[in-house]
Amino acid sequence: MSLKRNILDLRKRKEEIQKGGGEEAIEKQAQMGKLTARERIISILDENSFHEYDMFVEHAARDFGMEDKILHGDGVIIGTGTIYNKPVCIFAQDFTVAGGSLGLMHAQKITKIMDHALKMRVPLIGINDSGGARIQEGVNSLAGYGEIFFRNTLASGVIPQISVILGPCAGGAVYSPALTDFVFVVENISKMFITGPGVIKSVLGEDISMEELGGARVHAQVTGNAHFFAKNEKECFEQIKKLITYIPWNNKEKAQPFPAKPPKKSKKVERIVPTDPKIPYDMREIIKAITDGSEFLEIMELFAPNIIIGFGRMDGETVGFVANQPMVLAGVLDTDSSDKAARFIRYCDAFNIPIVTLEDLPGYLPGVDQEHAGVIRHGAKILYAYSEATVPKITVILRKAYGGGYIAMNSRHLRADFVFAWPAAEIAVMGPEGAANIVFRKEIMEAEDPEAMRLQKIQEYKEKFANPYVAAAKGYIDEVIEPEETRSRILHALKVSKNKNISMPVKKHGIPPF
Ligand code: HXC
Repeated sequence: MSLKRNILDLRKRKEEIQKGGGEEAIEKQAQMGKLTARERIISILDENSFHEYDMFVEHAARDFGMEDKILHGDGVIIGTGTIYNKPVCIFAQDFTVAGGSLGLMHAQKITKIMDHALKMRVPLIGINDSGGARIQEGVNSLAGYGEIFFRNTLASGVIPQISVILGPCAGGAVYSPALTDFVFVVENISKMFITGPGVIKSVLGEDISMEELGGARVHAQVTGNAHFFAKNEKECFEQIKKLITYIPWNNKEKAQPFPAKPPKKSKKVERIVPTDPKIPYDMREIIKAITDGSEFLEIMELFAPNIIIGFGRMDGETVGFVANQPMVLAGVLDTDSSDKAARFIRYCDAFNIPIVTLEDLPGYLPGVDQEHAGVIRHGAKILYAYSEATVPKITVILRKAYGGGYIAMNSRHLRADFVFAWPAAEIAVMGPEGAANIVFRKEIMEAEDPEAMRLQKIQEYKEKFANPYVAAAKGYIDEVIEPEETRSRILHALKVSKNKNISMPVKKHGIPPF
């Protein structure tokens, strides 16, 4: 064969493989609002930057009639490309080929690109759309998942791992995403479950739709498995590209700086926070009042909304924000919000991102439900995560900082580098009302006018303890600042902390309360 005919032959072979599972299967996917696996990769990467590998890999199954079946690329596409001109590794499962199910060769392709990503210290993006372990390949499929999970764990904290759920992800298919840093879901398209509706019906006799069981909203709002929720695939790809601008390429780098810019003009921060500690406000307004361009990329917006996590920039550098949200449950810490914050703190710490904590909370949520749901175990995660983090850690106490909440939200005692408090901050073991009722119970009961006595004792307690000056007198707070000084104080603290370098006791690893 002449070289020209070889080239034509190569093109023909590629064209054939690019048909995936065929027109009919692609049409079925399109009707559900789904792009093909290749279209998805191309939509995420810079134009013409995708390089595909292992295109000619075929499955190795020899049972259940599989020996005669052709599965193009064994149902998964792998390769490298760039986003904003920076390299990434990527794979996309192709549901049109055997339901994107994972057999031996399919898994080997994924692990090859994972190994590449880890070796080259570049982010890994996985687009998941799969029926899970390929039933016909038995233990080889399970082995494949095990190899993927192992690599997800090796890569954790070294390179960013991003999972995009763009179809059903059943059985083993869900655990790799669960081990990665950020999971993106799309309304009506993403489904994640260990056992599908069919199995539930046969084992438990219950009817449930895929959407109700593990649809995008369920994972963004209820389970906390998803970090970003989009209305369609296009919006999802934009979210991924936005996130990528905030994070470093690996744990030895810092996120790329952007040109610094001031926040947009908004109302004065002190006007956002009502002086009455019982009146709620939206903490996002405070974050946006202090970040460059008032931009803030919120993560897990729908899950445990009593705490806010996300990225912003200050003087052009990425900062991770952890902030109580007084608008929801007064911003308390509970099982879910502790999990949400703790994982994010560990992400920031692993990837050299300073953490700014904005505090206004009445403490941990009381109640039998929370106690039995494990608020001790889950609540301990945030203590662990802050204590362990060695990146610059800055706290601003805006209003309430009661009890365990005061300690947990990056207090000096967990080694905050800088702690600032607004002048109306109340730092105490509990709220003045509760404190007065307990400590002065006898005096109140025995008083001629118990109500007047109660109010007097509340006031006394407030004056004595519910202010920032007792903590400031002990050096637990570095500075009591005026609200309008918040951004400038944080900027200065970040500047001073740029070369922060501390080490922890040498150990193999700690044992966090997982
Ligand atoms: C082999 C599979 C498959 C699988 C789907 N297919 N899942 N083939 N192994 N696990 C094939 C179907 O046979 C079909 O092939 C094609 O993919 C499309 O599937 P449909 O069922 O027609 O699609 P849809 O109606 O959209 O339903 C999607 C689905 C359903 C909900 C994902 O396919 C399903 O329930 N699959 C099984 C899910 C599951 O239980 N997986 C768990 C495996 S065990 P044809 O040739 O007809 O087009 C597991 C354990 C690992 O993963 C544990 C690790 C910790």
